[in-house]
Amino acid sequence: MNILILGSGGREHAYAWKLAQSKRLSKLYIAPGNAGTASVGTNVNISATDFDAVKKFVVENQINMVVVGPEDPLVKGVHDYFLADDVLKNIPVIGPQKDGAQLEGSKDFSKQFMFRHNIPTARYETFTKETLAEGLKFLETLEPPYVLKADGLAAGKGVVIPNTLEEAKAELSEMLANAKFGNASAKVVIEEFLKGIELSVFVLTDGNSYKILPAAKDYKRIGVGDVGLNTGGMGAISPVPFANEEFIKKVEERVIIPTINGLKKEGIVYKGFIFIGLMNCNGDPQVIEYNVRMGDPETEVVLPRIKSDLLDLFEGVGNGNLHEKSFEVDTRFATTVMLVAGGYPEEYRKGDVMTGFENVKDSIAFHAGTKQEGDKVVTNGGRVIAITSFGDTMKEALQKSFANAEQIKYEGKYYRS
Ligand code: AMP
Ligand code: GLY
Repeated sequence: MNILILGSGGREHAYAWKLAQSKRLSKLYIAPGNAGTASVGTNVNISATDFDAVKKFVVENQINMVVVGPEDPLVKGVHDYFLADDVLKNIPVIGPQKDGAQLEGSKDFSKQFMFRHNIPTARYETFTKETLAEGLKFLETLEPPYVLKADGLAAGKGVVIPNTLEEAKAELSEMLANAKFGNASAKVVIEEFLKGIELSVFVLTDGNSYKILPAAKDYKRIGVGDVGLNTGGMGAISPVPFANEEFIKKVEERVIIPTINGLKKEGIVYKGFIFIGLMNCNGDPQVIEYNVRMGDPETEVVLPRIKSDLLDLFEGVGNGNLHEKSFEVDTRFATTVMLVAGGYPEEYRKGDVMTGFENVKDSIAFHAGTKQEGDKVVTNGGRVIAITSFGDTMKEALQKSFANAEQIKYEGKYYRS
């Protein structure tokens, strides 16, 4: 089987690394990929959202399956593009069509969906430029802090949580009247602030049956001690110590089953991953958001813990027989520590030569923002490398990740200790 992965981050390197372990894989391509994906497959210089170029490559290289990493091509309809094309329509695409991708592409859609299907989530209202005055009044009925979300995709920056009513009002005006996030903030969801501790649960579904993947927790702040600016994620752990079997059971009954059934009831054929961002509020799950893809860096701890053949699971998604596939999880802890570029998450360095990969022992170095330049690997993104390790305890796994984080060298390197 020949597979094309779309994307270029640590998540895609983890997919490539895992798929490369399948005996049934023939050729593996990653578009556009990074220096890490080039070590397990062949990079192709095509943007994940250039569907015509993707088609040409798929046809010319006899691709049998396309795995979509990021949300952007899904929200833009890559799966619909395949289904509408006579030559491509029988090639399975792992990732939902446009309708299902709205779970991530529109906060308003996903909140309405949760309310329609009684899925626990924060109380909310949605406002537009025309209803700005009502929005300002609605803010007055809430307790601080205030949660304001741009409806559309805003590169992970569309959620703002001001502490005072004054700031919240100014922010709402900025988003609606001054289009702070462009078209993405033409609608704004305002919701109640949930108190608790966050984690993520991941589901792989063929639209009918599903597998619950290992849960993970991502650490989003740049600074040690969870302070400073938000990032795409500085590290992750799996399993999550405060998400015991009883909690996951609640997530399955209250969130996962109603989500799968809700999609079916609405005629949305969903084939792919569902990333459920949750708040554990005193032992009860509340949904913060859905994403229609895996998380990054969560994938770098979730996939290594899956013992089963990922290609086989993806085939189950494509063929609609996921329920027949075996699914086994490693009970050990996995941790990943993200090495980032100097300056990140603000303006950051690029093009710094990286060394020391050969000294990484007993960890996996998943490349996120790297690029091959001649015989050198250079930094090419804010988040550069995710160092994943296993241990019988979280501490043991973390110690390995930190020790190997020291082995990789480049100018401006930073990671959270
Ligand atoms: P989202 O993109 O919806 O996941 O929001 C980004 C981040 O904002 C989340 O990971 C949470 O840390 C925080 N957040 C979002 N919604 C809420 C809420 N209702 N209550 C508390 N924190 C929230
Ligand atoms: N690490 C968070 C995300 O992938 O959305």
